[in-house]
Amino acid sequence: MYRYDAYDHAILRQRVAQYRDQVRRWKTGELSDDEFRPLRLQNGLYIQRHAPMFRIAVPYGLLSSTQLRKLAEVARDYDRGYGHFTTRHNLQLNWPKVEDTPDILEKLADVEMHAIQTSGNCVRNVTTSHFAGIDPDEIADPRPFAELLREWSTFQPEFAFLPRKFKIAVSGSTRDRAVTLAHDIGLNIKKNAAGEIGFEVLVGGGLGRTPILAKVIEEFLPWQHLLTFVEAILRVYNSYGRRDNPYKARIKILVHALGAEQFRKEVLEEWANLKDGPSTVGTEELERIARHFTAPDYAALPARDERVDALKASNPAFARWVARNVHPHKQPGYAAVTISLKDPRQPPGDCTSEQMEAVADLADQFSFGELRVSHEQNLVLPDVPVSALPDVWEAAKAKGLSTPTVGLLTDLICCPGGDYCSLANAKSIPIAAAIQERFADLDYLFDIGDLDLNISGCMNACGHHHVGHIGILGVDKNGEEWYQVTLGGHTDGVKGRETALGKVIGPSFSAAEVPEVVETLVRTYVAQRHDDERFLDTFERLGLAPFKEAVYAGRRPAALNTSAARESTHA
Ligand code: HEM
Ligand code: SF4
Repeated sequence: MYRYDAYDHAILRQRVAQYRDQVRRWKTGELSDDEFRPLRLQNGLYIQRHAPMFRIAVPYGLLSSTQLRKLAEVARDYDRGYGHFTTRHNLQLNWPKVEDTPDILEKLADVEMHAIQTSGNCVRNVTTSHFAGIDPDEIADPRPFAELLREWSTFQPEFAFLPRKFKIAVSGSTRDRAVTLAHDIGLNIKKNAAGEIGFEVLVGGGLGRTPILAKVIEEFLPWQHLLTFVEAILRVYNSYGRRDNPYKARIKILVHALGAEQFRKEVLEEWANLKDGPSTVGTEELERIARHFTAPDYAALPARDERVDALKASNPAFARWVARNVHPHKQPGYAAVTISLKDPRQPPGDCTSEQMEAVADLADQFSFGELRVSHEQNLVLPDVPVSALPDVWEAAKAKGLSTPTVGLLTDLICCPGGDYCSLANAKSIPIAAAIQERFADLDYLFDIGDLDLNISGCMNACGHHHVGHIGILGVDKNGEEWYQVTLGGHTDGVKGRETALGKVIGPSFSAAEVPEVVETLVRTYVAQRHDDERFLDTFERLGLAPFKEAVYAGRRPAALNTSAARESTHA
């Protein structure tokens, strides 16, 4: 993984010292709340419903066991002993004291971590696939490119005050696991006929209040031009993006307003000034960065292991875990393992300090000391020998980290919602818990099969509800919490049908109704599915109608009408 050099370390130390002084001046009243606000935000500190919220970056989701142990220590010493892994490779602490945040950053700097650009209208954490470097489908490892973008964009003065926050995702596989279509810039690595590496460049995607999928503006950009081309895009956005209205400030609105073709023309015009200039990436520079991402020292192992096969045959719980939480690996004899953060006893994505330490131990013992954070809010051990799977399973089980549900309905994505977030219209964690409780039967869950359920507490869509097969969105109706349901969204990741936005099925529901609604949707699917058809495929074959009919059947028309009338205010 990328290791800091002396310059990186020095920059981080200076930054912590600067921030420490800013906090001090705020405490003594030398800085007003308004003056302190942008300074704290530039260091990842929000003020939330109950307490500050501190967002720590995990660049492209890659963590060492040492870093995870440090996160555990920080969560224990300065928070309530847990942290929350988000959909964008960050860890959020929900209860730190403002006064402690310089100390937290100092501890993080010891292990080459920080919170810079985790907030503010700048280029945020660059995200990628949690299987980067190990995916059998991989065209090229996206991490060196993500790191290039990180180095280039961190402290980039020209793009520190964009019209709005800016998110870039890079995918290196034929299957997109980084949801590139829902990012401001999505970069899909491709190989041309000559075997050279380049990027398909997508622009103007995003969820939130106005969900839009990104448009391709370049079919094949040679990798040498990555930074100059991204710079050209950002310049066009910086010049024309709307600063008058924060709700219309994202690049997706600009691309939509101009049209992708016109936007592309503007970018090409700007690029003419930058192409082949100093930001062009040289082979030496790429190789310098790529050396940080070489494969670990794999042993030559047989692809199968008899002990594992025998345990799978004799122990259904282990077989289930292998079926859902163990993933193929480029290297024979190895597998990637998802450490689930979806035990129903904890909010989705939450991880206690003790659990973080347990996962760090597992990484040291079985995965070359390395881990990943997935955008589905789980952790991944990327390089586990197949023969060690039973040991990993036992150890994960002991800590409540072996929930065997990856990709199933209860492996849901869920934002912190009204329990923490001051922007929320409704709570989302109790909704997640109620659904997880309703679908606790593993036999049933396995029978239902692949189903993504995503929950957001407001239209900002942090929980990615637009791209859930079933999406649940908290809406406010006259001060009460209601939930709107969408169907058919997905991030399938397969070329040609990577991502789609869900469709609203109709009037929203009370919190108490939601589990029953989900159950009805699932029952409708089970009754209608063809042999191996997934929920999503059945939905695409049948459309909204049968699901809608089943869910609203028996609801009183009056209630329906009132609800429908109110709905329009939330469009
Ligand atoms: C688990 C916690 C969180 C996660 C995973 C998360 C992640 C995200 C993601 C993925 C989006 C969608 C952006 C897009 O694709 O356009 C988003 C939007 C947004 N989030 Fe969060 N976020 C979290 C917490 C928060 C909190 C606590 C705040 C409040 C300070 C917040 C404020 C926003 C806003 C304002 C937007 C809309 C941005 C826009 O469309 O311009 N988020 N967040
Ligand atoms: S979706 Fe809304 S409620 Fe949920 S974390 Fe984002 S801003 Fe907060």
